Amino acid sequence: MASVIGVFDSGVGGLKILQGMRGSVKNTNFFYVFDRSGAPYGNKNEKTILKRACQITEMLIEKKASIVVIACNTATAIAIDHLRKNYPVEFVGVEPPVVPALKVGGAGKVLLLCTPLTAKTKRLQRLCAIRDDIIVAPQKDLATRVEQEFLTPARLDKDVEKMLNRYGDTKIKAVALGCTHYYYIKEKIEKYYGYSVPVFTAVDGVVNRVKSLKKEDDTIGPGGLVKYIYL
Ligand code: DGL
Repeated sequence: MASVIGVFDSGVGGLKILQGMRGSVKNTNFFYVFDRSGAPYGNKNEKTILKRACQITEMLIEKKASIVVIACNTATAIAIDHLRKNYPVEFVGVEPPVVPALKVGGAGKVLLLCTPLTAKTKRLQRLCAIRDDIIVAPQKDLATRVEQEFLTPARLDKDVEKMLNRYGDTKIKAVALGCTHYYYIKEKIEKYYGYSVPVFTAVDGVVNRVKSLKKEDDTIGPGGLVKYIYL
């Protein structure tokens, strides 16, 4: 029987993670929760996000999910340790891809784009501690703008330009996307830097982790069904 993976985010960001999983995790059905009534996560406080993460996890466990993918950096940074301690399913979270970004050779800094709440978390501060070659760059409204305009991406051109102009005085050698909503503007960032600066997401890392948790017979067979839940 196909197993169930539950996935959640405040909106469309986590769809990029879902898309990655559907391509290579087989014999699995998915529930995808758009927590639009809780959005934007990145401008809320930790207590609010933790509460929503628990409520959504309980809903997904009721739907028989054996793995819950927190397809959101903000909710991962705040809630994953607590969820792992308190619920009897596997959790896979999204971490900002700073490790591959730091491996990029040459001079310059890694620009880590994330939500304001992610920037404040201990988990992120631990990840970036003792590194002076990472610029943590919280973006107040970018996730909301992407949520509004992901179907009309040309309208995000100015947002991207304005955001990156702010770091124009610094040599950037790589960009790490620390919010799944920003995956929608990956190509715009690459274009801004004339395709000379690699831009990293965490999609492959999440997909590989999920695959490692699945049974062998779950890697074959047809791609699964997805049911969408809007909160
Ligand atoms: N996509 C989420 C993240 O990765 C949340 C964005 C938001 O709702 O602020 O952080």
